[in-house]
Amino acid sequence: MTAAGTDAKVALVTGATSGIGKAIADRLIREGFRVVLNGRSFAGQSGSPTIAESPTILGPSIVLNSADLLDERTPQALLDSAVESFGRLDYVFVNAGTIESAPIETIDIEKMCTMLRLKVESSFRLIYTVLKHMKKQGYGHVFITSSVLGTKTRENSGAYAAGNHALEALAESLRMELSDTDIQITCIEPGLVSTNLHRDWPVHPKELLNIGSSLTPEDIADAVWDVMLKKDYIRIPRLMILPRGHRV
Ligand SMILES: NC(=O)c1ccc[n+]([C@@H]2O[C@H](COP(=O)([O-])OP(=O)(O)OC[C@H]3O[C@@H](n4cnc5c(N)ncnc54)[C@H](OP(=O)(O)O)[C@@H]3O)[C@@H](O)[C@H]2O)c1
Repeated sequence: MTAAGTDAKVALVTGATSGIGKAIADRLIREGFRVVLNGRSFAGQSGSPTIAESPTILGPSIVLNSADLLDERTPQALLDSAVESFGRLDYVFVNAGTIESAPIETIDIEKMCTMLRLKVESSFRLIYTVLKHMKKQGYGHVFITSSVLGTKTRENSGAYAAGNHALEALAESLRMELSDTDIQITCIEPGLVSTNLHRDWPVHPKELLNIGSSLTPEDIADAVWDVMLKKDYIRIPRLMILPRGHRV
């Protein structure tokens, strides 16, 4: 592990309490980054989510902010946490998400709309909030966790795919707008990853979609780290990551 110094780069990660976001956060901390981590339920923290303005500071290099991203004040509060705690913001991982995927007869419309508010509205708010800051500071890199369903769709998963397509459309437009700047956008498009995302599904997608094996969250963190290590003039707008046997 590298100790995070006062010149260490700063990253904000949403969805950092589990799965892909937690693996990215763990990797960044190991690599010596200073981090602001968001998610409603950090292990060891009890009680209801704290309000957006009350981050928990864990030593000099980790700030936990357990605000709900569905609260429209949260994106600005996360940016403020980073800038007030560390004075800069180099990387943002727009990663929090849920999934609601079911046939017409059983789909829960309220859960579907909440999924879309998180995946689309909250993500768009966060992306534009941090980009306004990055435009002023002149640098930054925003990673967006989209999905293999960011460029295609699947029966029963139209709303989930639509949310990811929306992120991809925004990312491509922003890539064009920012192409002559030092601000970058990368959409990560994972196939099936073993996380809590599908924990309420009666049949696991591995069986449902006949996918031989799934990726680990650490596989995604490794791929992200590879993108972060590339030369400055190279842009990687999209990266699809699939396990062997992921046909659909
Ligand atoms: N797993 C896969 O196969 C897969 C494949 C492609 C893309 N993805 C995408 O990857 C991203 C991460 O998912 P994952 O697989 O790592 O699932 P996960 O383990 O369930 O993690 C989801 C994260 O989102 C956070 N979150 C959910 N609702 C929130 C809210 N209202 N406010 C703040 N945070 C909230 C959760 O934290 P709390 O519950 O603590 O708030 C958790 O940290 C998602 O956008 C998902 O669409 C996943």
